[in-house]
Amino acid sequence: MYSYKSLGLVNTKDMFQKAVKGGYAIPAYNFNNMEQLQAIIQACVETKSPVILQVSAGARKYANQTMLRFMAQGAVEYAKELGYEIPITLHLDHGDSFEICKDCIDSGFSSVMIDGSHHSYEENVKLTKQVVDYAHSQNDYVTVEGELGVLAGIEDDVVAEESHYTQPEEVEDFVKKTGVDSLAISIGTSHGANKFTPDQCTRNEDGILIPPPLRFDILEDIEKILPGFPIVLHGSSSVPAEYVNIINKYGGQMKDAVGIPEEQLRKASKSAVCKINIDSDGRLAMTAAIREVMAKKPEEFDPRKYLGPGRDSLKKLYAHKNENVLGSAGRA
Ligand code: G3H
Ligand code: 13P
Ligand code: ZN
Repeated sequence: MYSYKSLGLVNTKDMFQKAVKGGYAIPAYNFNNMEQLQAIIQACVETKSPVILQVSAGARKYANQTMLRFMAQGAVEYAKELGYEIPITLHLDHGDSFEICKDCIDSGFSSVMIDGSHHSYEENVKLTKQVVDYAHSQNDYVTVEGELGVLAGIEDDVVAEESHYTQPEEVEDFVKKTGVDSLAISIGTSHGANKFTPDQCTRNEDGILIPPPLRFDILEDIEKILPGFPIVLHGSSSVPAEYVNIINKYGGQMKDAVGIPEEQLRKASKSAVCKINIDSDGRLAMTAAIREVMAKKPEEFDPRKYLGPGRDSLKKLYAHKNENVLGSAGRA
């Protein structure tokens, strides 16, 4: 058993209260390896932003949960060494069982998501409450994110055929019955780099895909029902054309990639949305830089020579998100 406080981590309670009041969102960035974690910490220290480090089931499989937990502890020390202390949360992304959530809590995570969105409403309530009861009874209160509504696309192992938007009338009951600290909702975002099919989009004069707007009406209804309650947006990568073009220029084959326009995320950040999840944009930024080095310097075989530029590209992206999209810069 590890206490997250002894690792220098914090839960999301205070972060979210400040974010809702201040009209900005905390970045939740996924990491699976050292370079991604370094880029997150460098960008967040430089922009003085609080940050949520997210570990998915895929990350646990790829990198090992114990490795990732110690890396997060290392990240706390790294941030201090860079000269500015920022609040850092270690969060389980899309936990799909009580056992996974418990395992993470016991090993030092300060926050977990229990994603019961693929179950019936009643099952979701039951499972989420079980996790909340365990998390909140720890000596150091662990925060819990629930999910209501199903995102389109692939949610880890959970496949949803189409987006089932969150029903505002269920939100109050769900929060009351479960005691969750925050709630992920479905208003039109989805995971990955192809968030909409071309049929769901229009095209501008340059042939660029324009996605349908997010359902801000649903978000507003939820805010009216539960004023100030922390709302989370998953699937919030913007899939910048700049990266997709570099990837395709240097041998990639990404077709019809489309994300959520940054303007809409900027608007969401000013609302009760206080946590925005971004993973795919980081994958694109890193892959674009690596592909470019590989293509331009075919003689290179030292991983540092391509992972280094990948890390720099990632850091630039995260600093941009904090400063220009989420508004979290200067809030730590
Ligand atoms: O929600 C999904 C995240 O982007 C994590 O993706 O399951 O491939 O690690 P992953
Ligand atoms: P993206 O695929 O849009 O980056 O979403 C990531 C996410 O929601 C992680 O939980
Ligand atoms: Zn997600």
